[in-house]
Amino acid sequence: MNYETKLWKIEDITKNSTQIEAAANLLKKQEVIAFPTETVYGLGADATNEQAIAKIFEAKGRPSDNPLIVHVANKRQIDQYVSNIPDIAEKLIDAFMPGPLTIILSSNGVIAKNVTAGLSTIAIRIPDHPVARHLLEACQLPLAAPSANKSGKPSPTSATHVYQDLNGKIAGILDGGNTGVGLESTVLDCTSELPIILRPGGVTKDQIEQVIGTVMIDPALAKTDDQPKSPGMKYTHYQPEAPLWLVDGDADFFQAQIELNTDKGYKVGVMASKELAALLHTDNIKTCGTRANLNEVAAQLYETLRAFKKSDVDLILCESFEQAGVGDAIMNRLHKAASKKIKQSLSPDETSL
Ligand code: TXA
Ligand code: MG
Repeated sequence: MNYETKLWKIEDITKNSTQIEAAANLLKKQEVIAFPTETVYGLGADATNEQAIAKIFEAKGRPSDNPLIVHVANKRQIDQYVSNIPDIAEKLIDAFMPGPLTIILSSNGVIAKNVTAGLSTIAIRIPDHPVARHLLEACQLPLAAPSANKSGKPSPTSATHVYQDLNGKIAGILDGGNTGVGLESTVLDCTSELPIILRPGGVTKDQIEQVIGTVMIDPALAKTDDQPKSPGMKYTHYQPEAPLWLVDGDADFFQAQIELNTDKGYKVGVMASKELAALLHTDNIKTCGTRANLNEVAAQLYETLRAFKKSDVDLILCESFEQAGVGDAIMNRLHKAASKKIKQSLSPDETSL
């Protein structure tokens, strides 16, 4: 379907509620609207309506077996879509919602089947962004919303990113400026005896454990560690325009990688913290915040990935960050984005093309 995508710029949310009203009316007519959340922009549609949801999958080019997160305005609304709320989920809701945590609970079947990809569970969260909250209240619907990017690309942290990916494919975009957290919500499965983190995100494992005690980490997440993928392997997630190589080593090692690949004739782009950038000699560095505050790196990660253009670089060498706190989520995304991982401990032969 071809749309003339409306772009509503929201400068002052109280004064511009007519724009949110207009977006809410389109949602009630089964259209798809992009809106800001505190994590990334979401692509929302009525979670109780299969036709509306089908439009999300079509606009994004998303595989239909990947379920969506349902966004609601408040705790009461969660009750309407789940069969029960276990005690731990109650605690998590009180501690972190609204906020960047998504919990998986048993569905009561009210949400459309294509939202949950046929699963008996649903993922649900209360976003902490005034535009998202007002929109949910105005339309009075639960909104299923994946990140508002074309499938496979980095998630959008600004309305411009959404526009680049989805102009002409959706009815409208509410522009609420840059998102704050910059990475998606943490997804926590609360249907098993011990809750399991399925995706690290804006709320850290430590923060969750302070509220409900020990949680597990999905073993599938560990598999992305240290397993160099074959260079030709097709990307499926967070893909920048040029291949991303994740470099794990000190500044001298990083510099050697730049030179090795420049000597081979490649145009090398570098993505690094300002600390590492200060130690490197090369002319195409994009910085993404400071190591001293990984929240900054999280907030700038997708924007920086999107800033590398294939006309300028053949490959991107990217710093590895400490896997602690929000660093877990940062490294999870970078491992998924990377087509190759280069470690200082490997022999020089293994680090070449
Ligand atoms: O921060 C966020 O979570 C953003 C904003 C827009 O809310 N949304 C987002 O949605 O990242 P998406 O579709 O890009 O990622 C949803 C994740 C996927 O990894 C999906 O597999 C998982 O949640 N998911 C959804 N429903 C699930 C279910 N019932 N069981 C297990 N995983 C589920
Ligand atoms: Mg996504």
